[in-house]
Amino acid sequence: MHILLLADDPRERQLLEKTLIDEGLACQMTHASSKKEFQAALEQTQFDLIISDFTLPANSGIAALTASKKLQPDTPFIFVSGASGEKQVVESLKSGATDYIFKDDLHRLGPAARRALLKAKERKERQRMEEQLRVQSSALEAAANGIILTDKTGKILFANKAFCAMTGQDLEEILSQTTRFIESDKCEADFSRKLWKTILTGQVWQGECINRRKDGTLYNEEMTITPLQESNGEISYFIAVKQDITKRKRLEEQIYYITKCKRLEEQLHQAQQMEVMSQFAGSLAHDFNNLLAVIHDNTKLVLTDESKLSEQNRQHLEQVIIAAENAANFIRQLLAFGRKQALQFQPSDLNQVISNFTPRLDRLIGAQITLQYHYARDLPPINADPGMIEQILVNLIVNAREAMPQGGQIFIATESISLDAAYVETHFEARPGEFVCLTVSDTGTGIYPEYLPRIFEPFFTTKEAGKGAGLGLAIVYGIVKQHHGWVVASSQLGKGAAFKIFLPVHASNVAKILIPQTKKTPAHEHEKNTVGG
Ligand SMILES: Nc1ncnc2c1ncn2[C@@H]1O[C@H](COP(=O)(O)OP(=O)(O)OP(=O)(O)O)[C@@H](O)[C@H]1O
Ligand SMILES: [Mg+2]
Repeated sequence: MHILLLADDPRERQLLEKTLIDEGLACQMTHASSKKEFQAALEQTQFDLIISDFTLPANSGIAALTASKKLQPDTPFIFVSGASGEKQVVESLKSGATDYIFKDDLHRLGPAARRALLKAKERKERQRMEEQLRVQSSALEAAANGIILTDKTGKILFANKAFCAMTGQDLEEILSQTTRFIESDKCEADFSRKLWKTILTGQVWQGECINRRKDGTLYNEEMTITPLQESNGEISYFIAVKQDITKRKRLEEQIYYITKCKRLEEQLHQAQQMEVMSQFAGSLAHDFNNLLAVIHDNTKLVLTDESKLSEQNRQHLEQVIIAAENAANFIRQLLAFGRKQALQFQPSDLNQVISNFTPRLDRLIGAQITLQYHYARDLPPINADPGMIEQILVNLIVNAREAMPQGGQIFIATESISLDAAYVETHFEARPGEFVCLTVSDTGTGIYPEYLPRIFEPFFTTKEAGKGAGLGLAIVYGIVKQHHGWVVASSQLGKGAAFKIFLPVHASNVAKILIPQTKKTPAHEHEKNTVGG
């Protein structure tokens, strides 16, 4: 504690210092013996306590009190005086002295100093808290976010300017009201119930909702509600910090819309390209097939009369036959892509088609690959050519196998799907209705995103020359199209690829299964058929 003492007699300093130390008050004392020294000390140092003689030859005690109140108003000031007189005491206390001690009662100085210091400390603390409250409340008031404080029934106790501006409400009108006036019917049905359940259990609630301004217009709001707990753990108040995010929402909607349009445009472009290619491949293959038939059939005719042929010429003509057959095989694939092959449609149970074909599929995969089947229950029939569905399965399984040289898993799944307008909006080729979906997925290398839009093109291959013709998926595409369906490929590089084929449910509700019953209808849900590894 630092004390400033004003006294003309230096012995007083020792006396007072001793008195205070005896009282257990450790102090450092600055002694001023004149008005000038006192003034200078007040200007230089902040003191915890000022003690002054009342009667001074060259300085009046009251003048010293006035000077110290001016320069250090919060520092307690105690007069110590030899002279006694009620008038002096009253005058000094009226002028702001904290206490007045007679030298005869010097034992009172310690307790008086202690009391004065305590009071000064309390006053300082009160001022600090008042200041803190003032800053906090002006910060809440000036915050850019809307802030309201409610009691635990939701009645508004405080609302800042930003909240009033956001909602268009007048403060006087909304105080003591619940926040029901901003609620709209645009939020989820149990929005309010969930919110109250969260905050009444002491948890912070964060979320978005659509509210109503005073003028009836709607706005998007993002808010955080924090329950305020009393020291006994009871929740008495909630503070809600709110932000109008209408602009951000509009922007997000616009971005979503533009992205969707762009994606649809790309899908349309791809579909148009595929259509042109498919028509071109179809008519080319058709004409070429006729030419091949002429070459093949006439060569066969010449070969029937072997007597007229030399051995060497017979061998040459047999080569022609082999080449013509290979070419015909190739052309058959192009015809499949060009949707020019004759199909034999019949109401078919996709589960049954797959299960009849599993022995062949099992032979296609290597020992390190596991093939799992997941058949949906009560799958409606589709109008399909079972032989073509088998062709799709072969092409997809071979691709999956080739994407997993180190082994892996292939999943074949069926499901019944009902597509709504929302799905159709984001998938160009899709249309609403009832479909059966066949999924073939694997855990292989996956497909580069830049390749994904091209994989169904005929002759697109990433395989080395002689290993792949790039026709497998083009055939899948053609067959699916001929079945009035569509195929969607997706992939995560390094994680695998998935092909989803959507086929329309058969229109009639007559025959469900016309596939020869070589096997029992497969058991359902999660049936596993593991081959090899
Ligand atoms: N499951 C898959 N995982 C990774 N990449 C695949 C998968 N399926 C297809 N691809 C990619 O798509 C390309 C085209 O496949 P597509 O079946 O049409 O032709 P291909 O397999 O290369 O040749 P082909 O089938 O005529 O022998 C493949 O080269 C490969 O890059
Ligand atoms: Mg292939």
